Amino acid sequence: MAPVISLTASVEERLRAAIATALPGAGSADPLLRRSDRADYQANGLLALAKRLQANPRELAARVAEAAPADGLIRAIEVSGPGFLNVTLTDRAITENLSARARDSRLGAPFVGRPGTTVVDYAQPNVAKEMHVGHLRNSIIGDAVVHLLEFVGEKVVRRHHIGDWGTQFGMLIQYLTEHPHELERGEGGEGGRASGEEAMSNLNRLYKSSRAVFDADEEFRQRARRRVVALQSGDPETLALWQRFVDESKIYFNAVFDKLDVEIRDSDVVGESAYNDMLAETCRLLEKSGVAVRSEGALCVFFDDVRGPEGNPVPLIVQKSDGGFGYAATDLSAIRDRVFGLKADTLLYVVDARQSLHFRMVFETARRAGWLDGGVNAVQLAFGTVLGKDGKPFKTRKGETVRLVDLLDEAIERATAVVREKARDLTEEEIAERGAQVGIGAVKYAELSTSANRDYTFDLDRMVSLNGDTGVYLQYAYARVRSILRKAGEARPAADPDLALEPAERALGLHVDAFPEMVAVAAAEYAPHKVAAYLYQLASLFTAFYDQCPVLKAGAPETVGNRLFLCMITARTLRQGMALLGIRTPERL
Ligand code: ARG
Repeated sequence: MAPVISLTASVEERLRAAIATALPGAGSADPLLRRSDRADYQANGLLALAKRLQANPRELAARVAEAAPADGLIRAIEVSGPGFLNVTLTDRAITENLSARARDSRLGAPFVGRPGTTVVDYAQPNVAKEMHVGHLRNSIIGDAVVHLLEFVGEKVVRRHHIGDWGTQFGMLIQYLTEHPHELERGEGGEGGRASGEEAMSNLNRLYKSSRAVFDADEEFRQRARRRVVALQSGDPETLALWQRFVDESKIYFNAVFDKLDVEIRDSDVVGESAYNDMLAETCRLLEKSGVAVRSEGALCVFFDDVRGPEGNPVPLIVQKSDGGFGYAATDLSAIRDRVFGLKADTLLYVVDARQSLHFRMVFETARRAGWLDGGVNAVQLAFGTVLGKDGKPFKTRKGETVRLVDLLDEAIERATAVVREKARDLTEEEIAERGAQVGIGAVKYAELSTSANRDYTFDLDRMVSLNGDTGVYLQYAYARVRSILRKAGEARPAADPDLALEPAERALGLHVDAFPEMVAVAAAEYAPHKVAAYLYQLASLFTAFYDQCPVLKAGAPETVGNRLFLCMITARTLRQGMALLGIRTPERL
């Protein structure tokens, strides 16, 4: 079916046409339409146009208003202030538009004009290491961006660039060969398989013991270094041991992602190790083309504008002087794979802002090498730091990094208490299920409601609050609408364009109408926080509507039907929007 044109778009079109009629020769001008409290919309664009034409803005606005007479869409159009146009729509246009919207399963959301392929690099924890609060950000933001892009029809390739390669594995593997039983598990795990927590505690124990030996024993250190060489040259026995670490870690990651309610497909986990075979070739190409040069034995790329404190250039090191490849070589090889193998048009990296310099240098190197040209866009969606209430990077009381699982468990526990207190007709099992959905929803919403590049404060008290800009507030709003719809029984939601609308109904309807534009902007800008802001406003407008306009007790059956219709389309919009953020919408709370 043809996409439903939003009211904003229709009004804008009318105003453009009116400008063309009233001011022939003025060229095209954006009416700059905004929602307004005074009328439904305000157009501010005539001020700039008047300036350009050196005309009196109020006069000009009056001429445009005259050229856009009232009709089925516009009820009134008035000049105000220095030369704004206040536009009020007919009630009928609002209801009819929403009713067409309701027939569309996408609620009018557009597809991008020319879909391309975007590779999204996100949710990238490190093997044999605990996931921490930083991985909360790259997982949740990345997941929401993936949903948004897929929703507008972009082809998305997900890449979890996990840290599964590097020198630390020499130490771990060597220790394991010398203590072969250390990764074997007790009877505890189901059918011999460890749970996520068990897997991580095994890895932690192994890490600690191997570290202790590594620090104390020079000969062990030698053997560990030889292991690294064996690993990088593909020695089968070493690789098999390495694989055990990776498998053990994946059990742990999957358990955390499960709790986080983020879907991770095994085939999308393509870690640093996957590019091992490309590293030497990447270096060869860079050196041959002169993009990288040897400097003190290392293969380096230099940049005019990247310098250390004393003004000396700080290079990107692609290969170390001992022949080892680092993070940069892997990322450059991944770019070659994504551009030439996956045929990406866009490379998106959801990575901590503290790695911005690394990506700036990597992208520039790839550009110089001709791997990233005008046709391919590489972007780091850099996110800020999670802060504690003291305004410093979030740490435990002892000053250690916070384990992600502990944080999630606490959020779930707090949310469960909130759910239990409010629950009227929920069983214990339902309380536990909703508690998890509300707790994780709260964490996700807090993450997604500030723009990614900003730091934000991790404050569970605020996150699980029922009032304010929280995930919980949205989930309760959704459950409330659903409960009204359930109670309606015989009464059916039915849009009736003949009915006059109350101000709260208009405000709600016009906001629902803005959903498609919001989706287009949020997807184009990789900005899930715009979805969050939209939903918060939607829930607030719904609350105001519900306070001011009785639904089931509205009296006349047409009014009941029309208000139920508004409830229904609000519920669908909330649900769709929250799904984009990866937040569950329980039917009852
Ligand atoms: N593993 C890294 C971390 O934990 C993130 C990887 C980012 N992606 C990349 N292509 N370098 O911070």
